[in-house]
Amino acid sequence: MSQVYLNGEYLPLDQAKISVLDRGFLFADGVYEMIPAYGGRMLRVQEHLQRLQNSLDAIRLDNPFSNQQWLDIFEKLLADNPNTGDGEDKSIYLQVTRGVAAVRNHGFPDAVNQTVFVMVNELKPVAKEDLRAGVSAITLDDIRWKACNVKSISLLGNILLRQQAHDNDAAEAILINEGLVTEGAASNVFAVIDGVLVTAPAGTRLLPGITRDLVVELAAEHNIACEERDFTEAELLGASEIWFTSSTKEILPVVELNAKPVANGKSGPIWEQMIAHYQACKVKLRSGESS
Ligand code: PDD
Repeated sequence: MSQVYLNGEYLPLDQAKISVLDRGFLFADGVYEMIPAYGGRMLRVQEHLQRLQNSLDAIRLDNPFSNQQWLDIFEKLLADNPNTGDGEDKSIYLQVTRGVAAVRNHGFPDAVNQTVFVMVNELKPVAKEDLRAGVSAITLDDIRWKACNVKSISLLGNILLRQQAHDNDAAEAILINEGLVTEGAASNVFAVIDGVLVTAPAGTRLLPGITRDLVVELAAEHNIACEERDFTEAELLGASEIWFTSSTKEILPVVELNAKPVANGKSGPIWEQMIAHYQACKVKLRSGESS
């Protein structure tokens, strides 16, 4: 049984309980983060904590902890949940809600005592061959709200879109907002258009992915032409490569879009370069050379 953190206590998962009056349960009034840890070392944890702060600021909820207090919780949970089997990596999930209020009322309660929950899960290493095989995607209208930069636990739009993709034998949806590509249901989207790697600019239409930012940085470092700019669904349909990025999926090529092959239906040469650079980052992290 995994050990989790809930409101100041470390306890087995099946003993972690919250009130039905928690505003996270009643209103999805809260935010979350998901941080990958490779060989026990967290990837870009300071960036995740900064994004958490940005999400909390956006929903006007105080951060219950300093960064050091968060790190102490993560380190303890990583130590208390040793690896099982061959999955040597972990993901840390944290969630902060506006806590329990005496009555269900949309407005904020006068006194707020945040609910803080943290758990650690196995992050199964995706074999490079499986990544290379790629996935299918479909484009769907982005039905979500106007603050997609907030990592809100209110994911109903995202899960309906993801399920619609699954119902159409696709692994993920690529969301289109007024003709422009925003992101995936739980990932960011890159496309190679006229030889240039393109991803939508940060803003309120998408979550600024930590993996996305790392890919943009790696492109700059290795002289891969890359632009953060708006691009249309028509440009996406003509792209020579399309990828999803996220902390759990890393960099995943899309080889089929709307039931048609992307270019020759195989992962492309720029993905091959980028995944090698990304894997090299993980190797450095494991050896303690970088964070
Ligand atoms: N989701 N966009 C959305 C809507 C996401 O849910 C995610 C990740 C991303 C990628 O962000 P990052 O690179 O920081 O993981 C973009 C996580 C993994 C989840 O909800 O499970």
